[in-house]
Amino acid sequence: MVFGLIIPFLFSSPAVHGYDLVRDYSGNSFFDGWDFYGHYDNLTLGDVWWLNRDDAFSQGLAYVNNARNVILKVDNTHDVPFNQKRNSIRITTQDAYAVGSLWIMDAVHMPFGCSVWPAFWTKGTGEWPDTGEIDIMEAINLMSNNQMSLHTLPGCTHSTPPNQLGTSAELDCSQAAGCVVSETQPNSYGPAFAAAGGGVFAAQFDVSGIYMWFWSRPNIPPSITGATSTSGIDISQWGPPSASYPSTTCNITQFFSPQTLVLDITLCGIWAGLPVQYQPTCGQNGPTGICYNDNVVGAGSRYNDAFFEIKYIRAYTTGGPVPTPTGAAVAFATLPVMTTTSAARPPADTQLRPSPLFYPGNGASRKSVSFGGVMASVMGLYTFSKRKSLRTMMKQTLVLLVTLATCIMAVPIMESDLEKAGGPRGRPGSLLGLGTDVSGSRPRSVTPARRSQEEGMDGAAVLAGRAEEGDINFAGCLLGLC
Ligand SMILES: *[C@@H]1O[C@H](CO)[C@@H](O)[C@H](O)[C@H]1NC(C)=O
Ligand SMILES: *[C@@H]1O[C@H](CO)[C@@H](O)[C@H](O)[C@H]1NC(C)=O
Repeated sequence: MVFGLIIPFLFSSPAVHGYDLVRDYSGNSFFDGWDFYGHYDNLTLGDVWWLNRDDAFSQGLAYVNNARNVILKVDNTHDVPFNQKRNSIRITTQDAYAVGSLWIMDAVHMPFGCSVWPAFWTKGTGEWPDTGEIDIMEAINLMSNNQMSLHTLPGCTHSTPPNQLGTSAELDCSQAAGCVVSETQPNSYGPAFAAAGGGVFAAQFDVSGIYMWFWSRPNIPPSITGATSTSGIDISQWGPPSASYPSTTCNITQFFSPQTLVLDITLCGIWAGLPVQYQPTCGQNGPTGICYNDNVVGAGSRYNDAFFEIKYIRAYTTGGPVPTPTGAAVAFATLPVMTTTSAARPPADTQLRPSPLFYPGNGASRKSVSFGGVMASVMGLYTFSKRKSLRTMMKQTLVLLVTLATCIMAVPIMESDLEKAGGPRGRPGSLLGLGTDVSGSRPRSVTPARRSQEEGMDGAAVLAGRAEEGDINFAGCLLGLC
């Protein structure tokens, strides 16, 4: 029966069970095969600076512990002043793995807590999302279950096969959240994951489909507990996957290029930090109810649980017969499975640009803009309260135009301040990209419509809880617009 789980019913060719090891990432050599991001989070707009390799090691955010497990963590020892980001880690493998690969991660701890957003995922070597993304482990805030997903261009959908343990949510993989499947097995994330001794995540990237498994520590199959850093693996006894995306409704070779593996931890940002996500579980976590203010700012000790502890990550390739649904797929699957990309590194993710609503350091220019915004606001409120005649209506329109112009002027000034703030060790101001996400899940691309919605929300957040000098600017603009 397992046969049918691996290769969906359509194909009568033999299933692939045997995989050969191509790379073991573990212990002291773990970091050899990874690149460190070395830039603030300009992708998911979280309030972190992802350190480069040297800083990650010297600040103790990436190391191998006494148990020979790899630690990747958020800075939990420094106070972060308002308007600055907190240091964290994002690493990407130098190798990309083609269709026909299998990845296994054995971890004893996942980062968790309010504002914390960790992920273990894969990313195509080209443009995003044109070359695909596979989210194997991802969760935010106080979620108790892991969430899996694919991100692709339009045309790849999830057909909710019966042979899947998890619960399908979104079915269209081109939607902002991707085609999401929620884990239903216990202890897949958070304190419960750690209390159970962690567990194993696996993803099979195959022409027949993409399949993901999770086992809490006590349930890990013998084929995995018995595997070594040099042995192959037989997946025939793994049982049904947690998430199953058969190629019947998503042509894998069309939507996915070879994939690099990514491990990262961000804070807040466009999923964990969205008020609709953050407030229900973490809104009472601090005085303002705003993700950045109540978590990232201040003492680091609230991030004592925000770390990965990883025994190993292993990459495998099909050693047995390759599934052969189509001639084209056969040709593709017999290409060399691992392509080294260290010579020509894949471009960084490109879809998200930082919102212009940054709060960089102190700029005299910004103060004058703030002043203009406040003045316009006062006038706006005044005329609003007196709205009676055509004359005042016209006056009001004039004030609105002045205010709009002020707001528009503010944007480039802030962007240039941001560039100035981004020195080699500098941490630019906090990004308050707080938007509403109607789908209830993480958006990965920001459309102009969404952006303006986010900007509106951002201003509202400012009005709600922030009294810093820079905020007056936006408060002023917003009031003026009223
Ligand atoms: C899947 O995509 C590949 C690559 O784009 C193509 O060659 C192949 O014909 C497609 N297969 C199906 C069944 O559409
Ligand atoms: C993010 O920053 C990196 C490093 O500077 C840059 O190469 C990349 O283009 C940036 N991405 C976006 C989406 O801004």
